[in-house]
Amino acid sequence: MKGPDLKTNLPGPKAQAIIARDRQVVSTSYTRDYPLVIARGEGAYVEDVDGNVFLDCTAGIAVTSTGHAHPEVVQAISEQAGRFLHMSGTDFYYEPQVRLGEVLSEIAPMPGPHRSFFGNSGTEANEAALKLAKYYTKRHGIIAFLGSFHGRTMGALSLTASKLTQRRGFSPFVPGTYHAPYANCYRCPVGRSPDTCAAECLGFIENQILVHLVAPDEVAAIVVEPIQGEGGYVVPPDVFLQRLREITSQRGMLLIVDEVQSGMGRTGRMFAIEHAGVQPDVVTMAKGIASGLPLGVATARSEMISWPPGTHASTFGGNPVACAAALTTIRLLRDTLIHNAEVVGAHLIAGARALMEKHALIGDVRGRGLMVGVELVRDRQTKERATTERDAVVRECFQRGLLVLGAGTNSIRLSPPLVLTTAQADTALGILDAAISAVTKSN
Ligand SMILES: Cc1ncc(COP(=O)(O)O)c(C=O)c1O
Repeated sequence: MKGPDLKTNLPGPKAQAIIARDRQVVSTSYTRDYPLVIARGEGAYVEDVDGNVFLDCTAGIAVTSTGHAHPEVVQAISEQAGRFLHMSGTDFYYEPQVRLGEVLSEIAPMPGPHRSFFGNSGTEANEAALKLAKYYTKRHGIIAFLGSFHGRTMGALSLTASKLTQRRGFSPFVPGTYHAPYANCYRCPVGRSPDTCAAECLGFIENQILVHLVAPDEVAAIVVEPIQGEGGYVVPPDVFLQRLREITSQRGMLLIVDEVQSGMGRTGRMFAIEHAGVQPDVVTMAKGIASGLPLGVATARSEMISWPPGTHASTFGGNPVACAAALTTIRLLRDTLIHNAEVVGAHLIAGARALMEKHALIGDVRGRGLMVGVELVRDRQTKERATTERDAVVRECFQRGLLVLGAGTNSIRLSPPLVLTTAQADTALGILDAAISAVTKSN
C-alpha cells in the first residue's frame, strides 16, 4: 500500500453510509474527530472503505505498534486461533500466557523475579495495580496527577484527571484519591524553567497532601504516567520521576508507572521510565503490547503479587490469541522497532521543531521517540491555548491524507506505528505544515 492517495471527497459515499448507520446503533460517548472508516491497513498506511489511502500517525491511539497487520503477528494470531481461542487462564493453564509472563519478566524495568496479572485493557491493568497496591500495603490512599489519564472504569477513572467530560456526571469517585500537579515544563505549575527544575511541584505532595489530607502511612501508591499521554504528550524532567521514587521509597508507598501509552518501545526504550533510570514497583501495559489485540498487564515483583487465589481475575484476561500476538510483537520490538522508534522519532521531533520557525501557532514540540506532541498557542508569550485551531489542524490533516489525533485541549499527538520510515515522517511533516498554513490563513 502506498499513500497518501485520496480518490474521493472525504468522507466518501461508502464511509458516509456506514457513519449514518453507526449513528443509529453505537454509543454516542465515543469521540470521533473526523470521519475515517477503515477497510484495511498495512504498515503505516490505512485504506478507507472508498479506497482512499492515509498515512497513519495515530496507530489507533498508539496501539498498532508493529504496523497494521504485520504479517508475522497475523501468522502468530492465526496459528494460535487454529489451536484454541479460549480456555480462561484464570482457571486453567496454557503455555502462551506462561511464556508471555517469562518474556515480561525479561523486559520489566525493575529487578525480578516478577509475576504478571493479565486483563484486557489499559484501565483493567490499572485496576489490577490499584487493587494490588491496596492489598499488599494494607493502605487505602492513592496519589495521582492532574492532567493524567488512567482509564474509565471507576477505580482508574478516580485517578484520571484529564478532561472534565470524562468525569462529569460520574462522581462520587473512589474515596482516598488525591491529585498533585504534574511537571509540565512548558506550563510549570511553580514558575520554574526546565533548566532550574528540581521537581518543586512535588512539594505539593510532601508539604500539602501528606500534611493536610492523608497521613503518609495511609498512602498505598503514587501512580504516574512517565510521559502524560492523553493530557498532551507532556514530558517531565527526569528529576521529577527520580524524586517520586524517593518519596515513595522513603514512606513505604508503591510507585506504579502507567506505561499503557508510553510503553512497548514507543519512546525508543521498551518503557519510558527507563529514560529516567527509575525502577518502579509495578508497571502497567496495554495498547501497543499486542499490536491491536486486547491485552492489559500489570507486572510487579513476585513477592508483591502473591495474593491468594480468587482475590483478582478476569475471564478473558490473557487470552491465548492476544498472548501469541504479544509474544511476536515484543520480539519484533526488541529486534528492530524500538531502535527505529528512536531514530525516526528523533527525525520527526527535529522536523516538527523546524516548523516552529515558520508557524507562530506552534508553541512547543516535545516527545521521545515516536511519542511526539505539538502544542498550539495563539500567542507564544501568553501561551493562550489554540483549542479551535488545534481541532481545525487535525481535520485539515485528515483532508490531506494524514491521520493525527489531539491530546489535551490544544496539542496534536503524533503516535505512528513504530515501523514509520524517515521518508514517511517527512511526508507527515509536509502535510502538518500545509494544514497549519491553511488554518492560519483562514483565521
Ligand atoms: C496512560 C493510559 N492509561 C490507561 C489508558 C486506558 O486504556 P484503555 O482505553 O485500554 O482502557 C490509556 C488510554 O488511552 C492511557 O493512555
